[in-house]
Amino acid sequence: MTVHFIGAGPGAPDLLTLRGRDLIAACPVCLYAGSLVPEAVLGHCPEGARVVNTAPMDLDGIIAEIEAAEARGQDVARLHSGDLSVWSAMGEQIRRLEALGIAYTVTPGVPAFSASAAALGAELTLPGLAQSVVLTRTPGRASSMPEGETLTAFARTGATLAIHLSIQNLAQVVADLTPHYGADCPTAVVWRASWPDERVLRGTLGDIAAQLPEGISRTALILVGPALGREGFAESRLYATDYDRRYRPQSADSPWADWSAGDD
Ligand SMILES: C[S@@+](CC[C@H](N)C(=O)[O-])C[C@H]1O[C@@H](n2cnc3c(N)ncnc32)[C@H](O)[C@@H]1O
Repeated sequence: MTVHFIGAGPGAPDLLTLRGRDLIAACPVCLYAGSLVPEAVLGHCPEGARVVNTAPMDLDGIIAEIEAAEARGQDVARLHSGDLSVWSAMGEQIRRLEALGIAYTVTPGVPAFSASAAALGAELTLPGLAQSVVLTRTPGRASSMPEGETLTAFARTGATLAIHLSIQNLAQVVADLTPHYGADCPTAVVWRASWPDERVLRGTLGDIAAQLPEGISRTALILVGPALGREGFAESRLYATDYDRRYRPQSADSPWADWSAGDD
C-alpha cells in the first residue's frame, strides 16, 4: 500500500501531470484538500472510489483515514493544490507516514504562480529587470513569518514577488512595498487562475487596491515587480544572432565548434 501525494494544480482538471492523473485514476481512495482543489479534478477518480474532503479534518483524522486504507490494502491519492513543495502541509504528513512505516511517492504539480503568470502572459524573469522570483506570503492567523522573511527584506532585492495567501492583506502589502518599488510599479492580482471564473487585474502598486472588486478573496495571487510591465527589458543573449554558443557556433575558431570543448 502506498500514499501518492499529487500536486493537483491550480484548478483546471487538465492542468495535472499525466502521472498525477493516472495515479488518481488508479487509487481506490482519494483524500483531497477541498478548500482549494476543485471538484472538477475529482473527475479523474475511478468509479466507486472513496473520496474524502480533508478540509474539515485535523491531521490525526487524515492519518486515521490513511491507516484505514492501509488496513484494507488500498492505495491513496492525496491531493493538494498547485505543487506540493510550497504550502501544502505535505511535510507533516510525510513525517507521520515515515513514523508509521507507510510508503509514499510525490508527484509534482503546476503551482499557482505559474498558472497566474500564464494568465498574465508574463515571463517573471526579464533580462535587466528581474532575474529572481520570490515565492512568499504575509503572516496569517495560523502562521507567523520567520524573522528576516519580511516583505520589506525581499523588496530590497527588486525581484519579482509572488505573494500568496495575502489578498486580505493587500493594503499592508502595498504599504510595505511602495517605498522600495514605487507607486508606479507594475502589479497584478490573479484570482482563481485556470478556473472557469478566473479574474485578472493589472495595475500598479498605487492603484491595484482600488481595482479589487468585492468577492475577490482567498484563492488569489499578488504579483509585483518591474517584469510585470513587460516593457523596457533587453533581449536575451541566448537568441542574439552573434551569440557564440554550443548549439550555434559562430566560427570555426569558436570553442563550441568542437563539441568536446567544454562540458556544458
Ligand atoms: C495554501 S497555498 C497553496 C499553494 C500551492 N501549493 C501552489 O503550489 O501554488 C494557497 C494560496 O496559493 C494561491 N493560489 C492557489 N491556487 C490559486 C489559483 N488558482 N489562482 C491564484 N492563486 C492561487 C493563493 O495565494 C492561495 O492563497
